[in-house]
Amino acid sequence: MRILSGINPSSSKGLHIGNYFGMVKRFVELQTEGECLFLVANLHSLNTVYTPDEIRNNTSAIFLQYLALGIDPQKSIFFVESDVPEIPYLQTILNNVVTVAELKRMHGYKDKLAHEVSPDEISAGLFEYPVLMAADILLFDVDLVPVGEDQKQHVEITREIARTFNNRFGNVLTVPEVKIQKETARILGTDGQRKMSKSLGNDLPIFGNEKELYTHIMRITTDPSRIRPTDPGDPAKNVCFSYLQLLDFDAQQLEELREQYREGKIGDVAIKEMLYEKFLHYFKPYRDAHVELAADVPKLSALRKAGSERAREIATKTISKVQRACGINA
Ligand code: ADP
Ligand code: TRP
Repeated sequence: MRILSGINPSSSKGLHIGNYFGMVKRFVELQTEGECLFLVANLHSLNTVYTPDEIRNNTSAIFLQYLALGIDPQKSIFFVESDVPEIPYLQTILNNVVTVAELKRMHGYKDKLAHEVSPDEISAGLFEYPVLMAADILLFDVDLVPVGEDQKQHVEITREIARTFNNRFGNVLTVPEVKIQKETARILGTDGQRKMSKSLGNDLPIFGNEKELYTHIMRITTDPSRIRPTDPGDPAKNVCFSYLQLLDFDAQQLEELREQYREGKIGDVAIKEMLYEKFLHYFKPYRDAHVELAADVPKLSALRKAGSERAREIATKTISKVQRACGINA
């Protein structure tokens, strides 16, 4: 079984626990279950990031963070999107098997419109975002695409594009299945309200320095009706409990903490201190690996090059088949 997923390196903020528990953790596990490909989708980030240095730095930072979190180049093909020119080549072809109406139904486009942007001001890159993603996937004969809930629609349109292509040109492209991580699908942000997202600023970055992390944790919004630590609180209104659970905090101890919280026997600060400790303990091996790898730039470059070479071995084969199928082979 071949599995592929990707991340858009659209921010310098780095990966947060929503990314980790929503996707990366599962992906690391999947490496033992199938043949995995993983890409840093920096062409996707061109529709929101306009500074070359930022693109470069974000791309290498995310590449490094994934390695530190356990993406293993021995087990997986791990590469950067822009290193594989077959991707935008396939996108050009796929543009002819998708309709404007289908792309207009995409959340990304609709969200942008809802924010009072006129359709005339939306870049073709944003509109095309799902087609580029379809190219990432369909180029590699993928069986399964594990993603967070927010990317489900993009994988569905990928399937549709593959079916349309196959109907027109013969059975060339593999129609992939989408896999959503149900239990951890939507990690709440530190505001306790909205999905954790780097763009909302409600995230807990995995590789941030300890001081920043402490500040982030202390700012987590908790039960607002609770004024003093001795007031009874509702653990469901304090997202710290969900985080502790995610970080494998002992289940029985966690239940006791919840009880103490309900009875007003423990303050929010004490819980946040525990969360801080647990967070650092949980991510220590990854944070250490990150420091070590960051110091070895030649190794990182070699891994990036090797990843793209392996990806292109598969990509060039698909492109040959596609070219033959639609009559553009030499
Ligand atoms: P962000 O929302 O911070 O910009 P991205 O859109 O770059 O994050 O998401 C990268 C991947 O991480 C996607 O597969 C997405 O589904 C997953 N992901 C991001 N935030 C969360 C979250 N809060 N809960 C679960 N998964 C998430
Ligand atoms: N669009 C995805 C996101 O914003 C990232 C991505 C790019 C991706 N190409 C992909 C995900 C291919 C899965 C498969 O998170």
